[in-house]
Amino acid sequence: MTLQEKTVIDKFHDLYYWGPEGEGQIFSRTKWMNVPCLKCPLDLWIYQEIISEVQPDLIIETGSYLGGSALFMAHVLDIIGKGELITIDIQDHPRLGHPRVRYVSGSSTDEDLVKSLLSGRRPEMRMVILDSTMQKIMF
Ligand SMILES: C[S@@+](CC[C@H](N)C(=O)[O-])C[C@H]1O[C@@H](n2cnc3c(N)ncnc32)[C@H](O)[C@@H]1O
Repeated sequence: MTLQEKTVIDKFHDLYYWGPEGEGQIFSRTKWMNVPCLKCPLDLWIYQEIISEVQPDLIIETGSYLGGSALFMAHVLDIIGKGELITIDIQDHPRLGHPRVRYVSGSSTDEDLVKSLLSGRRPEMRMVILDSTMQKIMF
């Protein structure tokens, strides 16, 4: 990758995250099916490619926030016709339910919690999305 290409990518990320001057963060206004989703849509496209290729039985997401990315992935699982999603957050928020999604309250770094969530499960294809960013960094 050339320095110019890297600069363009970095500028795009800055612009997408912070938004044009005076317009606020685009990132925090992004929604999936009317549910706030703190993602660049290009990343969601890559998620869709990975999910359809890997065909996971279980997706574990750390950091649910308002559930937009969980709902997006649940809809992709609906399309491939299999899979479930466990999403963990330290904060409780009202979130839209979906039959494939289980919202768990707690910390993704709590080993006992993670062990209890996975105990008794059969060997399966799992995909993990690490998105439990600290909020004070985000906003
Ligand atoms: C970037 S947001 C998640 C965005 C969400 N995945 C989406 O795309 O809409 C980060 C979330 O991580 C949560 N978080 C921070 N530390 C955590 C931890 N140790 N365990 C679980 N969640 C955590 C925050 O409460 C916040 O809701």
